[in-house]
This record gives sequence, C-alpha cells and structure tokens, in this order.
Amino acid sequence: MQPQPDGAGNQTLKARHARVIPHWVDQMYAEPLELVSGQGVMVTDANGVEYLDFFAGLATTATGHNLPELVEAVTAQLGKIIHSSTLYLIRPMVELAELLVSLTPPMQEKAFFVNSGTEAVDAALLVATSFRRSHQIIAMRHSYHGRSFSAVAVTGNRGYSATNLTPFNVQYAPYAYCYRCPFHLTYPSCDVACARDLDTVIKTQTAGDIAALIIEPIQGVNGFVTPPPEFFPIIREICDRHGILLISDEIQTGFGRTGEALWGIEADGVDADLMVMAKGLGNGIPIAAVLGRADVMDSLTAGSISTFGGNHLASTAALANVNYIAGHDLVGNAAKQGATIREALLGLQRRYPDAIGDVRGKGLMQAIELADADVHRTPRADLAAQIQEACRERGLLVGKGGIDWNVIRLAPPLVVDDSHVGEALRILSEACTHVLAGP
Ligand SMILES: Cc1ncc(COP(=O)(O)O)c(C=O)c1O
Repeated sequence: MQPQPDGAGNQTLKARHARVIPHWVDQMYAEPLELVSGQGVMVTDANGVEYLDFFAGLATTATGHNLPELVEAVTAQLGKIIHSSTLYLIRPMVELAELLVSLTPPMQEKAFFVNSGTEAVDAALLVATSFRRSHQIIAMRHSYHGRSFSAVAVTGNRGYSATNLTPFNVQYAPYAYCYRCPFHLTYPSCDVACARDLDTVIKTQTAGDIAALIIEPIQGVNGFVTPPPEFFPIIREICDRHGILLISDEIQTGFGRTGEALWGIEADGVDADLMVMAKGLGNGIPIAAVLGRADVMDSLTAGSISTFGGNHLASTAALANVNYIAGHDLVGNAAKQGATIREALLGLQRRYPDAIGDVRGKGLMQAIELADADVHRTPRADLAAQIQEACRERGLLVGKGGIDWNVIRLAPPLVVDDSHVGEALRILSEACTHVLAGP
C-alpha cells in the first residue's frame, strides 16, 4: 500500500520523521511501518492492515500487546501516583527488586532500576569498574550493548560503533560464532577454542587487572548467534581465575525467551556477578535493571539518584508483567513453540541449502542466516531484506540482524500459540519460496 499524506503540509509521516529525527535512527522496510494498535500477538498499522508480530517491538513485548493484567495494574497506578523519584521510598520498586532477586541465580542480591537497556549496561560498567578500580574491560566481537558512550565502547559491531572515543580500555575476545568460526574449526572437535582464547586475550592484550567481561548469552543483534553449552562454564572459569567480574547482558535473553530458564546464562549452569535486563521486563513500558552481588552493587563511593528509574508506574507495570511470565510458564511455552519453529526453519534450509547457510537460536529466539554456499559463505543481505519485505506483504513482521544484515530473526511474544506459529511459518515459507525459488 502506498504511504498516505499525513496532514502537516500534506507530507507523509516518513518525510516528517526525516525532517526532525536524526538520520541515524534506523527504520525497517523500504516504506517504514507505523503501528497504531496491538492485541496479543497481532498489531495493526495506520492503514488498518493487521500483522502477526514476530519481532515483538525488538524482542520486547514478552507478554503480548494489551495484556489485561498489565493494563489494569498500570491504569490503577496512573490514578494514584506516577512518580516521586528515588529520593522517596517507592513500594512497587522494592517489591520488584525483591521479586527479581527471588527469580535470579544466587549472586543477584541487589537491583538498581533505570529506563533502558543502554542505561543498565552503563550502570553495570560503572559499578564493575568502581569495584575493581580498573577501566579495563573485555567485550566480545559481534556484540551489541546499546547506544550510549559507554555502551558503544563495548559494542563489537562496526554498524553500531559511532565513535572511536571511549571511557574504557576495551579488548575484544572471540564469541562462539560456530557458522563463522574465527579459528575455522568445527564443534565439538574444536574443544571450544574460542572460549579458551580468552586466556590468550588476557595474556597478550591487557595489563591483567581487568574489571569486567560483558557478554550476551545469545548475541541478539548479531542474529541470535548461540554458543555451545561448554562456552559459558569455560568463560566463567577464566574470569574467576583472573578476578574478572562477569556481566551477563540478559536484555534479549532474559525473562524466559530462550525456553530453557528465565535467564540465558542460567541454562548453562553459570551465574554472573552482574546481570542487566530491560526489554521483556516492562513489556514496552520503559524500565531496565542491573542486578548483582551486594558487595559490587554497594561499591560506589558517591551518592546516586535515578529520577525516573523504577518509578511507581514503571515498577507496577514490570511487577504485573513479570508475575504473568512466571505464573503462566512462558518459559515452557517458549520451549514448545520454539521447537516447532526450529523444525520448520531446518526444513526451509533443506529446501534452500544454497541460500540458508545457518539455522540457530533457542526458544523464541530463532534465526536463519542467508549466505551463498561458497567457501566464504558470502553474506546475502539482499535476500534477507527481500524475505522480510515478502513476509510483511503477507501479514508477518519479522526482524533482521547480523553484522552484515543477512539474518532473519524471529522473536515473537512469549504468549504465541500453535495457530500463531503455524500461520507465521506458512507465511515465512511462502516468502522464502517467493524470494529463493528462482524463476
Ligand atoms: C543485548 C542488548 N544489550 C543492550 C541493548 C540496549 O538496550 P536499549 O535499546 O533498551 O537501550 C540491546 C538493545 O537491543 C540489546 O539487544
């Protein structure tokens, strides 16, 4: 459908956006979409067209759109008090901290609330560097941790690295990207060489006193790159040996999305010194948190406030949302529906082996990487873009990712049922046939 004039001098919303919003605020699709309402797993655009939402507002609306329990809780709170700041006691914030501490592994003892994932990453880096009295950080290649000065500094993705200025001394270690193994080895005979290489990075690229290593349990923006189960125990052991704090960025993997546990890193039997979470915490209401060891969290030597962080409204929303996730076994649902999706994606790969190079992910984080079947596995961003557009034309929203933008990402709300998944897979299959089957 053609974009419609939108008032304001007869311009489209796209043109108005371009005039007043910086050009680097990325949009998806040749004709960007304006979503105006949502119900469960469905969303509706400004032209009244309905879509199955298999990207969930960037893996955020974990419990779906317009969840009655959340709407009721937020509406009731709106009429009482929205905000007071952290200079006052905030009952829902304390209750939310108690809930999150009870739902996370044992090292997560205290919580600090902020407004976005980026801010949570920043807070984690602040407490870690203060505690360790060092500004040396290890981040992973292909990572994404946000858009602020400090988050960009630990992001190993040129597409999101807007500056070479940095508050830290950062070294990048290899991640377990098996499809594009940095050592050209094959799992499991590789003995997870990528994880073991961390020791070499520490010995050859640092002065030893590293404050923290920040890592995603599954690399989200990089297209759901998923390490083998041995990876995190090895990383944890090396961090422990060198006194390095491990920060698990659970912003995409948290709240059960992996279908294995509430937290991505938990599934491999590993706890982190600090965890950051956002997206699924508030289901779209801006709230994020850093949790961690009490001694680390308490280590700041100056006072701090967070004007909005954990305010009455955001904490109330998060409480309703997290209680819903925990009370409705959405982890189990993510596992069940994710298995169906994975099976179908593997079927697509068998059908189009020359275009679908890799199928990966866990639970409701599933992806296909589009690449030629040549020795370089040449990334095919063009195919990913075409498949994404073809899905949209047929009523399905999916995401893209990968350092070369050649990955299709499926990350629907955790409340998807059999019929949503069946219909989404039917559309995806049709879109792949349209794009990949050739003349
Ligand atoms: C793993 C990860 N960390 C951090 C962020 C930054 O979160 P936000 O966009 O809420 O600032 C994101 C956002 O996509 C993310 O995926």
